[in-house]
Amino acid sequence: MAWPFPLGHRARMAVLASGRGTNLQALLEAFPPGNPLGEVVLVLSDNPEAPALERAGRRGVRAEALPWRGRKAFEGEAQALLRAMGVDVVLLAGFMRLLSPGFVEAWYGRLLNIHPSLLPAYPGLHVHRRVLEAGEKETGSTVHFVDQGVDTGPIVLQGRVPILPGDGEAEVEARVLRLEHWLYPRAVRLLLLGLARPPEAFGELRGALYALPPGERALSARTLSALALWGKESLWPEALAASRNPWVRGAWLLAHLLAAPHLPLREELAALPEVGGAALALWERVESPL
Ligand code: GRF
Repeated sequence: MAWPFPLGHRARMAVLASGRGTNLQALLEAFPPGNPLGEVVLVLSDNPEAPALERAGRRGVRAEALPWRGRKAFEGEAQALLRAMGVDVVLLAGFMRLLSPGFVEAWYGRLLNIHPSLLPAYPGLHVHRRVLEAGEKETGSTVHFVDQGVDTGPIVLQGRVPILPGDGEAEVEARVLRLEHWLYPRAVRLLLLGLARPPEAFGELRGALYALPPGERALSARTLSALALWGKESLWPEALAASRNPWVRGAWLLAHLLAAPHLPLREELAALPEVGGAALALWERVESPL
């Protein structure tokens, strides 16, 4: 698949939301009209009562309810609006309907979702209850490319939070939500900057990436993406082996740093000759957007 990011123009983004819309709010704030990297231009909901629609309206963003009359009707109307508005990227944020394989395929690589668990653990509904019942000490959230399964697509970015002794569902949900409001805009910046790609974007290396555990896949994909942005695709095979090439090492350090801002790692990266400067420039664009 020819990889489209970075797009070379300001991304036009649509958000699909069914309910409360706190993640939508975070995206509206991170990508307001005129933001150089991308802007949310359209919010769609299958639920005319969704507070998400009001949140969009309050910020002057076009908001449309497409009341659910079945998947085919919804997707037909949605596709027409997405096309008419020149949308490049679709973000699901608490969108409670399943999309058809045809829709998902048409948008593959440009369609993200956020799920409140450390996928592939705990896909589906009632996540926090199940996490607490299992006695987990840690949970988190995952932004992923949407594929044809439920909460199964390639991971873009994950964040972790602890579960404290005595926590109930409400506390865990609030902590995860706070994380999500930081995580989702960050994952979108990674996508728009060309730093997050699914295995399909790496040609022959697709199989090698799918052979890795899902969490490591995302890290490797970030490493290969950074090399691509520096015009060093020829180093891709080396990067998946144990190479000590400075560009490869810089790309790995950057890939770690992008998932977990970590001062000593940043210092190590800054000290690398040549690649250090290029890597930190990318890191800054994710960390401190304009
Ligand atoms: C979030 O926890 C998100 O991960 C999940 O649904 C919830 C939506 O919350 N997909 P909100 O509507 O964004 O407040």
